[in-house]
Amino acid sequence: MFLAQKTLCSLGSRAKFLKMICSPKIFRLSTSARMSLKFKNAKRIEGLDSNVWIEFTKLAADPSVVNLGQGLPDIPPPAYVKEELSKVAAMDSLNQYTRGFGHPSLVKALSGLYEKFYQNQIDPDKEILVTVGAYGSLFNAIQGLIDEGDEVIVIVPFYDCYEPMVRMAGGTPVFISLRSKPVDGKKWSSSDWTLDPEELASKFNSKTKAIILNSPHNPFGKVYTKEELQVIADLCIKYDTLCISDEVYEWLVYSGREHLKIATLPGMWERTITVGSAGKTFNVTGWKLGWSIGPNHLIKHLQTVQQNSIYACATPLQEALAQAFWIEIKRMGEPECYFNSLPKELEVKRDRMVHLLESVGLKPIVPEGGYFIIADVSSLDADLSDMKNSDEPYDYKFVKWMTKNKKLSAIPVSAFCNKETKLQFEKFVRFCFIKKDSTLDAAEEIIKAWSRQTS
Ligand SMILES: Cc1ncc(COP(=O)(O)O)c(C=O)c1O
Repeated sequence: MFLAQKTLCSLGSRAKFLKMICSPKIFRLSTSARMSLKFKNAKRIEGLDSNVWIEFTKLAADPSVVNLGQGLPDIPPPAYVKEELSKVAAMDSLNQYTRGFGHPSLVKALSGLYEKFYQNQIDPDKEILVTVGAYGSLFNAIQGLIDEGDEVIVIVPFYDCYEPMVRMAGGTPVFISLRSKPVDGKKWSSSDWTLDPEELASKFNSKTKAIILNSPHNPFGKVYTKEELQVIADLCIKYDTLCISDEVYEWLVYSGREHLKIATLPGMWERTITVGSAGKTFNVTGWKLGWSIGPNHLIKHLQTVQQNSIYACATPLQEALAQAFWIEIKRMGEPECYFNSLPKELEVKRDRMVHLLESVGLKPIVPEGGYFIIADVSSLDADLSDMKNSDEPYDYKFVKWMTKNKKLSAIPVSAFCNKETKLQFEKFVRFCFIKKDSTLDAAEEIIKAWSRQTS
């Protein structure tokens, strides 16, 4: 570009006109005007440019804000996980590329761990794929298996990337909402939110390629029961449909509930991709390692996407994660195993959040799993008059107002909804409770002072 600009300028004439178009600013403008059609986005990403995490993480970045928004733990991961990483970083060979579909010692550890849950042994090389976070697994699965014209059933509210990922692949999301039965007087639990089996059946047809299931659920914390999973499994089998089962919170399940893998129900292994996350398992969200587990006839398509996109994940992180898994595999079932101790620690924080929200007159939905709690905040006094012209849902305005005026951040639940269902959920906001006691103390102070002002 600069060469062309120079040549144009050196062509001689000192006329004003040439001088003007040779100015770098005008030259940039005229080039972009000429090239504008080429600068346009690819059709597959049309309309997918907004993202709740980018928008709300920026708002919560102000250090004076108490951040209960994004699922960003501020309690440390286990010490040995960090120690394993520093040991690995000192070993030269482990700082180079590794096998693209998963570092050998990590896929072996994952196979060793999960064979306890599946009836069959899992082939570490053919039935496991290590990815860039659970996001990577979801992307590979959707890109590798969904085609133009395919329908994909998505349960509302849903982890926000499901819809854009399906659309990017050319698929059509078909939505169905979780609905709550009345709970007058009783505590409201995530188990009160269920799918209507008849409505669910009506969403399946010959074009249905997959259903995306998320249990334990983000944002509601619902842990699907065996009976609920069986209804979904029966429909998957009847309509020969795949299941992408996002189980990133598989270990974070609270007293009285048990996480069950849909892939272990009869007839489901062959049609299910199960997704996991190191970030959620060991509280190391910044490691961005995840995995997909499933039969080779499905995993091989995810591998094709991976080998032609990111190719391989970071070797030192994978080796450290493998070592961390072996430590936990040896003490599975014991109270000190992290898969038992982390949910115990979080259950106390969950109960604290329930009491706090109840103490200011809110009715939280008590989660059975995960590390988020939802509350209807429409009874909290918030002066949204500055935003009355905004066409955003109520919860977006509320969270922006709360972050600015109360220095407390959360995530609007309508961000987990398609356009048509946002109104149904716009009175709810999501608070994250995988936080140090001091962070929860600060949140408590804000909420209680706010409630005193209004009473
Ligand atoms: C339900 C669900 N799926 C997937 C992810 C992404 O996980 P990762 O950070 O491993 O990519 C998250 C992260 O919050 C999540 O809540």
